[in-house]
Amino acid sequence: MKEPVRVAVTGPAGNIGYAILFRIASGAMFGPDQPVHLSLLERPNPRSSAALKGVMMELADCAFPLLKSMRAEQDPREAFRDADYALLIGARPRGPGMERADLLEANAAIFREQGRALNETASRNVKVIVVGNPCNTNAWIAMKNAPDLAPECFSAMLRLDQNRAMAMLAEKTRTDVTDIRHMAVWGNHSPSMAPDIWNATVKGEPADNFVTDQWIREEFIPTVGKRGSAIIAARGASSAASAASAAVDHMHDWALGADDWVTMGVPSDGSYGVPEGMIFGFPCIAKGDGTYEIVKGLTLNEEQQARIAKNIADLEEEMAAVKAFVPD
Ligand code: NAI
Repeated sequence: MKEPVRVAVTGPAGNIGYAILFRIASGAMFGPDQPVHLSLLERPNPRSSAALKGVMMELADCAFPLLKSMRAEQDPREAFRDADYALLIGARPRGPGMERADLLEANAAIFREQGRALNETASRNVKVIVVGNPCNTNAWIAMKNAPDLAPECFSAMLRLDQNRAMAMLAEKTRTDVTDIRHMAVWGNHSPSMAPDIWNATVKGEPADNFVTDQWIREEFIPTVGKRGSAIIAARGASSAASAASAAVDHMHDWALGADDWVTMGVPSDGSYGVPEGMIFGFPCIAKGDGTYEIVKGLTLNEEQQARIAKNIADLEEEMAAVKAFVPD
C-alpha cells in the first residue's frame, strides 16, 4: 500500500461534491492501492455545514478501506495545507438578476483567495483542477495568485466536454467509446468550445470519414457545446454525476497517465497561437509520472482555427473583466 495522499475538495456539500467524494474514497480517482486523507472546504453557513456533516456521516458509513481520515474546514489555508491534489468545485452560481460581470467578479474573489491559500500552504507539487465555472478564468485567477507554485500545477476541467463528444460520436457511428481516439475539445468551457473531430479517429480511421460535414457543423459541435443546458432542461438540475465522473477521469489520468490524448484546460505555452499563460483546452499527453505535454504539430483546418480564435477572444474578454483580481 502506498503512503496516503492529501486531497482537498471545495464545495463538498454540493451536487458534484456528493457525486465525487465517494469515488475518490473508493479508489476510482487515484487507484485501488492509494489511500487518501480528505480535507473538505465549505462555506461557513449553517446549511452548508449541516449538509457537509451528513455527507461525512455517509462517507464514514461506507467504511472505505482507502479513506484514512477526513476533516471539514472553513479556512482555505487550513483546507489546502500540504494538499497533493485540490479539486476546486465550489463556486458562486448565477443568481436571479445577476449580470455576467457580477458572476465573474463574485467568482474572481473566491478564486483569488483560494489561489493565495494554495500558494501559502499546499504541497509544492499540488495538482489543482478547477471545476467551478467559469472554470478557465477561475483557474487563471487562482494560478496568478499563486506565484510560488508552477503554473503547471493549475488546470481547468474540459474533460466532460471531451467525454460528451466521444459518446456522441460513438453513438452516431454505432461504435463503442473505446473505438474513438484522439478526441479533443479546444478552448473555453462554454458553448463556443471547439470539439475537434478532424484529428479524432474511429477504429483507427479519420473520424470525419464516417459522418457528413453537415452533421459535424449542425449537430455535433452545437450539441456538445449546449449539452449542459439540455441536461438542465431535462433533469431540472445541472449535470453533476457526469461532471464528477469527468473530474475523476481528469485527475486519474493526470496522476497515473493515459494511453490516449486527454483534454485538459492548461496554461498555454504559446502553441497554436494561444497566448502564453491563458488557461485553454488542449489535447494533452498524460505521461504517467504526474506530468503532461500539450500535443504539438496538429493540423487545424480554417474553420477550427476560427473557432479557436473566437475562444481566445472570449477568454481575453473574461480575463480583462477580472484583471483587478490578479497581481500585475
Ligand atoms: P452546487 O451549487 O450544488 O454546489 C456548490 C457547493 O459549493 C455548495 O455546497 C456551496 O456551498 C459550495 N461553495 C460555494 N462557494 C464556496 C467557497 N467559496 N468555498 C467552498 N465551498 C463553496 O453546484 P454543483 O452542481 O456542485 O456545481 C459546482 C460548480 O461546478 C458550478 O460552478 C458549476 O457551474 C460547475 N460545473 C462545471 C462543469 C465543467 O465541466 N467544468 C460541469 C458542471 C458543473
